[in-house]
Amino acid sequence: MSIQLAPPRQIGHSTMVVPPIGLGCMSLSGVYNKISDEQGEAIIHAALDNGVTFLDTADAYGAGHNEELVGRAIKHRRNEVSLATKFGNLGGRGGKFADGRPDFVIASCEASLKRLGVEVIDLYYQHRVDPEVPIEDTVGAMAMLVQQGKVRALGLSEASPATIRRAHATHPIAAIQSEYSLLYREQAEETRKLTRELGIAFVAYSPLGRGLFTAAPERLRQIDATDSRKRHPRFQDENIERNLALSQSLAAIAERKRCCVSQLALAWLLAQGDDVIAIPGTTRIANLIENAGALRISLSKEDIAEIEALIPPGAASGLRYPAAQIGSIYI
Ligand code: ATR
Repeated sequence: MSIQLAPPRQIGHSTMVVPPIGLGCMSLSGVYNKISDEQGEAIIHAALDNGVTFLDTADAYGAGHNEELVGRAIKHRRNEVSLATKFGNLGGRGGKFADGRPDFVIASCEASLKRLGVEVIDLYYQHRVDPEVPIEDTVGAMAMLVQQGKVRALGLSEASPATIRRAHATHPIAAIQSEYSLLYREQAEETRKLTRELGIAFVAYSPLGRGLFTAAPERLRQIDATDSRKRHPRFQDENIERNLALSQSLAAIAERKRCCVSQLALAWLLAQGDDVIAIPGTTRIANLIENAGALRISLSKEDIAEIEALIPPGAASGLRYPAAQIGSIYI
């Protein structure tokens, strides 16, 4: 099944329907390997040309660079795109990881609209929950943006079930975005119990485990300190080999299904339910097309059980984030 033929998936409590596989744009701002802006824009055009019309960015990616890049690429193609961006991820600057103050929400949205060069953002997420600001206050400000027509639907990223319940009582939440892959899935599965109950879509970032599901493990073994993944425990010391052994254990099933390991990992994710939308990131057009090709793979119950037996929950080696950041997620 090509992406054009794959049934689109509903972003809960909104009129948005999106292809089950979108594009996570973070890596187009040099967060992992480095590429030029021309290459980055070419990836976005290739995405749209191949039906990958759900684009995910954030003001934090490249400190505004990513939104500007996306904005330039979609300048003449705005109506083809479902556009998601995020605010409020400070990444530890000044010892803070999040800012959810209402004034900051409003100012951040104005700045994102300007960088993106659009009149409205389809899906606006709080990127990280601010433990110092009641979620009702943050979501209250986000709801004002909806009323003003600047934003169409609201989301939260890396929020815990307790926070999601409170947020949703303030204004309908359309989507939760969190890390979700075969390797890191325990918190996502816990969260999905609630999001499915509330009719909220689940947008899975790092669906390839930040690249661990790959046919080219050599590239990962060679990443250096210019690649932010070097700071992630999953790539450090003996963890990387353990994690690669897990991902490569899928090779025989992938061969049987006539696909590659990355496609199998995405197909597994999409088979978890119609509420799941995956947004793999890539800096290569060939990988973008390969990822979209995951939609043609259908997995039986037996296939899924076999995959999950090889990579059970909790099998990954290394925390999801560096120790200094682990307290800023799932809040
Ligand atoms: P994130 O959400 O953080 O971007 P991800 O989607 O799990 O993480 O993985 C992104 C990584 O997977 C990127 O390093 C990307 O490498 P390229 O830029 O070289 O493509 C890698 N990746 C994406 N699609 C891939 C594919 N089909 N095969 C191999 N690696 C792939």
